Amino acid sequence: MLTSRVTIHPAFTIAPVPPRLFGSFVEHMGRCVYGGIYEPGHAEADIDGIRLDVVKLVRELGVSVVRYPGGNFVSGYQWEDGVGPNDQRPTRLDLAWRSRETNQFGLNEFMAWTRLAGVEPMMAVNLGTRGIADACNLLEYTNHPAGSYYSDLRASHGVAEPHNIKLWCLGNEMDGPWQLGHKTAEEYGRLAAETARAMRQVDPTIELVACGSSNDRMPTFGSWEATVLDHTYDDVDYLSLHAYYMQGDGDLGTYLASGFAMDTFIEGVVATADYVRAKRRSTKQMKLSFDEWNLWDESRFVGQQNLEWAQAPRLIEETYTAQDAVVFASLLMSLLRHADRVTIACLAQLVNVIAPIRTEPGSNGWRQSIFYPFALTARHARGNVLATHQDAPTYATDFGDVPLTDVVASHEPGTGEVVVFAVSRSQDEPIALDIDLRSFGELRIVEHLRMGGTALLDVNTEDRPDQVVPLQGGDAVLRDRHLQATLPPVSWSLFRLTPTPTI
Ligand code: AHR
Repeated sequence: MLTSRVTIHPAFTIAPVPPRLFGSFVEHMGRCVYGGIYEPGHAEADIDGIRLDVVKLVRELGVSVVRYPGGNFVSGYQWEDGVGPNDQRPTRLDLAWRSRETNQFGLNEFMAWTRLAGVEPMMAVNLGTRGIADACNLLEYTNHPAGSYYSDLRASHGVAEPHNIKLWCLGNEMDGPWQLGHKTAEEYGRLAAETARAMRQVDPTIELVACGSSNDRMPTFGSWEATVLDHTYDDVDYLSLHAYYMQGDGDLGTYLASGFAMDTFIEGVVATADYVRAKRRSTKQMKLSFDEWNLWDESRFVGQQNLEWAQAPRLIEETYTAQDAVVFASLLMSLLRHADRVTIACLAQLVNVIAPIRTEPGSNGWRQSIFYPFALTARHARGNVLATHQDAPTYATDFGDVPLTDVVASHEPGTGEVVVFAVSRSQDEPIALDIDLRSFGELRIVEHLRMGGTALLDVNTEDRPDQVVPLQGGDAVLRDRHLQATLPPVSWSLFRLTPTPTI
């Protein structure tokens, strides 16, 4: 049998697990808001229309931060439309998704929802059709205590205390020609820097994210990051990355290597940010916000121009397979591996739209296959992410030669718990995994969960919501302080180990 050998050591840490790595994204798109998190009249909705069954699933998912309100939507959004008395809110045309936006759900509803869901808000400002003044007005509305036009307006809307939103995105995907108010890197860099400075005058405690490229296939990828950071390096805290992976017409082997592609993407952006840092002789290290990531076959989207001005239409409601859950898990592992630089990440999106949670009007929500690797990683990756040294066989993909296995581990120094996440990209034969844990002392295996391996195309549906769930157990053993297990083809495994109590 092919064997992968891995060594980890508690002293070789990458970084503490960033709590904000387990973020998600709620956009006014399709049925993410309307019919997703918000459905007045639903049996499980509270008096404000918030679906409490969905809130419960969001809590179970372990989401820490939620980006809002877009996405492409934000580049045409007028936030004032979504505050104040509901019967006075206008219905507008959302040009990004060619939909009708009723504005019945807006900023204050979102903030009420974040409190129920126990998540931190991450707000985006419109730098497409709007600019500095509107960004400052919005920030004054959300964060200024009282005694000014917008803070008093908030109070008149029944919200006396400021929301104190810390995290702000300076626009969305401004490099994309599809974006309303699309800009060159020079234009966006200047606007982002000036907006950042003005917003910090309203509230100096905020954290700001500048737009990186929409993905690493953009023709301007690399030069966009360098130019934007030339303008914004001293004024922002994070640079964003977005990426969606899917097999599409490609081969399975390359799809299974998506985590490797994500590693390469992140490392390219780190290199570019550090290049700008070196030029500026700056002591500041730019952090990264991977604030849109998931699996999405964008080629199947009918195209914005073919949509029908409907209200909350069904858009990109992908159904994920067991195989997708394995690839998805490997993306999370890539994010963890880069925890020294990627300290915010948002799974796009949260409900219905390319989402781990699905709903139908009037009935219960259900968990897609990808729900489980997210929830389990958010729950169990604790303490420090550890560097792994892996000696594994490789195979050929469109991304080059890629290891057949991938392993990431976390270690909680307080409890001594070690958690190992392992993916096998092998398509037809199992792989023997051997992890040298001698530096941790005596451990015992307390849990071994896995997904994939068989029934790779199974999915969860409303009628059969538990077709794809993590399975307990496997053949994992500890031998001479080595964790040894067989990884089934196309599988993800989670091993939890704790120190053996001394008598
Ligand atoms: O998440 C769906 C869309 O993908 C977002 O609106 C946009 O930012 C990205 O292109």
